[in-house]
Parts: sequence; structure tokens; C-alpha cells
Amino acid sequence: MRRTVLIGFSALAATAALAASAAELSATSGRGIFRFGGEASDVIATFAGSSALLRPGVRRCAACHGADGAGVREGGVTIPPITWRVLTAPREASAGRAGRPGYDETTLRRALADGIDSAGVPLAAGMPRFQLTPAQATALFDHLRIVGSERDLDPGVADDEIRVGTVLPLSGTHAAWGQAMRAGIEAALESAGAIYGRRLRLVAVDAGDNAAAALARLAASDQVFALVASVLAGEADTIAMTDDLPIIGPVAPTPARPAVTQFYLLAPLEDQMRVLVDELASETPHGLRLAVIGPDGSVADAVADQATRNGAIIVRRVLADDGAAALAQAIEPAPDAVLALPGVDLRRLVAELDSRPGDWLLAGPAEALAPGAASNERLRLVLPLLPGDPHSRDASTTPTMPPAAVAATAVLVEGLKRMGARATRAGLVAAIETVRDFPTGVLPPVSFARGQHGCNRASVVIRPDRSRGIVVLGDWRAPR
Ligand code: HEC
Repeated sequence: MRRTVLIGFSALAATAALAASAAELSATSGRGIFRFGGEASDVIATFAGSSALLRPGVRRCAACHGADGAGVREGGVTIPPITWRVLTAPREASAGRAGRPGYDETTLRRALADGIDSAGVPLAAGMPRFQLTPAQATALFDHLRIVGSERDLDPGVADDEIRVGTVLPLSGTHAAWGQAMRAGIEAALESAGAIYGRRLRLVAVDAGDNAAAALARLAASDQVFALVASVLAGEADTIAMTDDLPIIGPVAPTPARPAVTQFYLLAPLEDQMRVLVDELASETPHGLRLAVIGPDGSVADAVADQATRNGAIIVRRVLADDGAAALAQAIEPAPDAVLALPGVDLRRLVAELDSRPGDWLLAGPAEALAPGAASNERLRLVLPLLPGDPHSRDASTTPTMPPAAVAATAVLVEGLKRMGARATRAGLVAAIETVRDFPTGVLPPVSFARGQHGCNRASVVIRPDRSRGIVVLGDWRAPR
């Protein structure tokens, strides 16, 4: 039963390795243009008389006209309202402002492109010029029709339903696992029942051969309120900067980045590897002599730092994994352990381990390993969650829902309950930030706070055992 966890993790590695191309990210919604200025290179805007392209944060309508389009009156500055009702009505001349007839779509297009208002008068320089494609203009106008009204709900929210998204491998090699995940999340949402009269419905999208692109498309489609994305690591960043979509459960990016709408449940790789170094040091009666294989970067830096903290020495540092298994023997005296960083073909090293005598240990991240490969007792693997799924029934025949997804769904449901009847993405983020010591069954109690979206530095170290399958060494632990 425990092996199933590793199946989940190898699928994770396979989908996480793929990157999205820019072209596939370019679906921008009217709401996206209004609130976020659209995807980075997707919407062209300048100030009059300048050719410098404006960044999304500067060109977004909401920045100047307000999130509800009601306009802003601050100090001496007045920025007019741009709700559909106000724009299409004629405006009487008043003290500081000339009158104008109501806009129609043609004059509105001209105002955005050329800065000429519906009376034929140039608009002040503070209003940017937008070169929108016909599709973008249509999408933007559709949003202006509802902005600030009762119909201006955040995506994925209806009176009787909240839609939650996830991206999974539903076809291809890992399809059985992806389908099991989908069924598991669906069941968890179903059993949560209606929250403030809204049932939770899952929109599961096939990762296909490009998980990042699938994720970006789902985010841009404005179909879902939030994502449970426990299987996606780096991809989540590709959309996070220009969107307010809450994402619960991805592995924290490496190196760490500030998270605005993302909540990370699992310890980042740097901390996982630090825990592994602690374990190796504690198993060695003298000062640990370590060989480290794998790419430079923040994870390698963390390993070096943790080695120093433990009074260990790195006797060999190799960047590539070629010939790595021979490494332990090539060094005199042999190191106590060979540590493989994420990105190294750990499976290959493990396959050779049996034919390499000695009592040195081989250590690495469990997620890099295929099921069945883990049988040598000299292996130490680190895992950001407990190996074992409390929700599984018969794991020998059915792939079970990985514990990370159990935890992510539980946190999401808790957040939705705390958010209250008014369903907004900002409200959900604020609600999850109030979660403290929340039990998920598969992680240490989960706590978040404002500005603190990574909840956990703890991992477990496991070792294969001939009679017992897999043994957990010690308990949850954060780096020393
Ligand atoms: C950097 C600030 C800024 C941004 C961004 C901005 N506007 Fe404006 N907008 C203004 C200002 C200032 C005016 C008033 C100009 C004037 O009164 O001459 C204005 C005027 C307008 C008007 C004319 C209103 C009227 O009653 O005649 C429309 C329409 C408009 N903006 C739409 C938009 C839309 C749609 C977006 C986003 C795609 C947008 N604006 C983004 C600053 C901005």
C-alpha cells in the first residue's frame, strides 16, 4: 500500500518537468484586462506621445478607475466612472467637467485607441491609449457591461455553485493515477456538501503533454474560482503574477518566491534536503563525510549549509550524475553517504546500488523514484508528507489519492467555510490566512497567516525494509 505514494510522486515529476510556451498563454479575458491589464505581452498600451509599452500593473483599468469601475476622486484628481450605465448615458456639463453625449461601441473604441471622447474632444494625457484586438475589445466591453453590478461575481461563482479546478494527467501513462485523483477530489468536495447554499463542483482538465499550458488556459478561461493543484510545482507561477486565482497545495517553488494567492502545504525542496542531511549525520557515529551529486542552485546551497551546521564535510561535489554510482568507491576513504539532489536520475543510481558493496548510504528525494525501485536498505529518501493514505481502501488494486491532494482539498473546503456567504477570491485568500493548527491527517497541523503562505518546513525520512516494506525513521521534523 505504501508504494502507491511513490506512484503519485513519479507522476508528479513527469508532469512538472514541462514548460509552457508564450503563445499558449495568450488567452486574456475582459475581466483579466480590466483587473490585471491582461497577460504581459498580450495587450498593447502606451501613454499618448510615447512609444514605451505600459506594464500590466500600470495599464489595468482598475488601477485608475477603481475595481468596481466607479471612478476615483482624490485630491485634485478626478478619474471618471466607466461602468456601462454611466458611459452610455449623456453627461451634463458641470463645474470642472465638460458635457458629452453617451458612448456607443464605436466611440468607445475610438476613446481607447485614440484618446478622443464621445464629443470629439481629446482625453487628458493620464488616460492611456490601448491597441486592442477586436476579440479583446469585445471581451472588455462585455466586462464593462457588468462591472460593479451584482452580476460582477468572481469567476466560478454562481448562486448555487462554486467551481473548483484541477489539472491532472487524465490521459497517457499516468491516466489511472490522474483519474483516481479526480475521483478522490470530487468525492471530498461532494462530501463537504453545500457551503452557504453553494455546492462545490470540480472542473478537471487533462494535463496532456503540457501541464503548464493546461493550467494557464484553465486560469484564463475564468471558469473556476480556485485551484487545488497539489501535483503542479513550478507551473503555478506562470499565471500567478497576472491573476488573483487562489491556488492551494502546490509544492513551493525553488528558490522561494513571494506568494500572493498561493498556499503551499508541503515543505520546500531546500528544507526537505536539509532534513535528509540531518538524518545522515545522525546515523554516522563520527563526522559525516558526504558526496553530493546534482546541479548547483538554491537546493545545493542549502545542502552545503546544512552540512556545515552538522559538522559534516562534503568530500566530493559532482554536478552531473554520469558515473555517479562509481563515486563512492573512487574516493578514499569512501564517504559515509552519497546524496543525490533533485534533478539527478536517482532511479539509475538505485538500480546500481545492489552491485556496489560497502556500507555507505544513498540518499535523495522520494519523488524521483519509481515504485518497486526502492528495496535496498542502504537507501534514505525524504518525503514532504507521510507515506500512507488514510483515505485509501484497497491500495493494492486501485491507485489512491495522494495525501497531498487530501490535504489541499481539506484546506480549500475549510477556507470556503470561513469565507462566508460573499464568495470572492480575495475573501477566500483572507479566510485561508486565518487557518491555524488545522489537522489534515497527512501533514503536521497546518497554519497560515497574512503574508505567510508556506505553512510547513517538516518532512519525513523513509528507508526500504525487507520485511516491513517501508519504514519511517523517526517522526516529522523540520531542519535542525
Ligand atoms: C493610468 C490611469 C488610467 C488607466 C490605466 C485607464 N484609464 Fe481611462 N481614464 C483615465 C483618466 C485620467 C481619464 C480622464 C481623462 C479626461 O477626463 O480627459 C480616463 C478616461 C476614460 C474614459 C472616458 C470617460 C468619459 O466619460 O469620457 C474611458 C471610456 C476610459 N477612461 C476607459 C478606460 C478603460 C476601459 C481602461 C482599461 C482598459 C482605462 N480607461 C484605463 C485614466 C486611466
